[in-house]
Amino acid sequence: MFKSFRNDEPFVNQRIMVDNHGQILEIGSNDFLREYGVTWTDEIIWKNDLTDRHGKLKPHVNFLFKKEAEYWNSDLWSDRDKKFFGLKEQQILMGDFPSLYLKFIDDVVGHGIYANQKIQKDDLIGEYTGEFMFDRRRDTLDSGYLIGGYSRLGRFKWHIDARNNGNYTRFINHSCDPNIKLTQTFFGGQYRGLVIAAKDIKLGEQVLMNYGNDYWSGKQTPVEL
Ligand SMILES: C[S@@+](CC[C@H](N)C(=O)[O-])C[C@H]1O[C@@H](n2cnc3c(N)ncnc32)[C@H](O)[C@@H]1O
Repeated sequence: MFKSFRNDEPFVNQRIMVDNHGQILEIGSNDFLREYGVTWTDEIIWKNDLTDRHGKLKPHVNFLFKKEAEYWNSDLWSDRDKKFFGLKEQQILMGDFPSLYLKFIDDVVGHGIYANQKIQKDDLIGEYTGEFMFDRRRDTLDSGYLIGGYSRLGRFKWHIDARNNGNYTRFINHSCDPNIKLTQTFFGGQYRGLVIAAKDIKLGEQVLMNYGNDYWSGKQTPVEL
């Protein structure tokens, strides 16, 4: 168990499981970096344009995040929503995720994520981790590993880019018949992208989401997975 560098909450690092010629093995984050060229992160990363040299949020960002927290904690949400997101928040802090594994598919699709156990509709699959940024950091916006949302206040667009840093969720492939969905929320002082099961998922089934048409414009037609 590790302490989060930001809010001092303890959190549990997720185990990294991969398919190696039909055998599911656990690997370390160094092997993961060497094998996939990605730094495994269980947390969202804030870069310098958001923080001062002590790692604290700059005042205008802090103000926005505080207002955002007020909105998300307000009575605009039903008890059902509050319970749903409250439970997911606890699971993230405890590192309580279903077991998944990473598997190479082919040279076109690359790798994908598979269920290493049965998963039920509405279960949390994981949190989309990576580098948090506002829209103006356009340099990385063609990364292919971005998710985004809008702040409720001022309608700022934000993104989490998992090109260089991320976890399993960055390997989720596209399907027009997805079994998971992404949900935007805000807790622990930051925006979050939660990956939630949209259907029951069987052991050994690939975890797939619908990227939407925009993602594929100007790219090759996606393969049916
Ligand atoms: C977010 S990444 C998913 C993980 C990726 N497969 C990998 O190994 O890094 C998105 C990229 O995966 C590939 N991909 C995902 N779904 C696909 C599909 N249905 N058909 C073809 N390529 C797909 C495309 O190259 C796409 O740009």
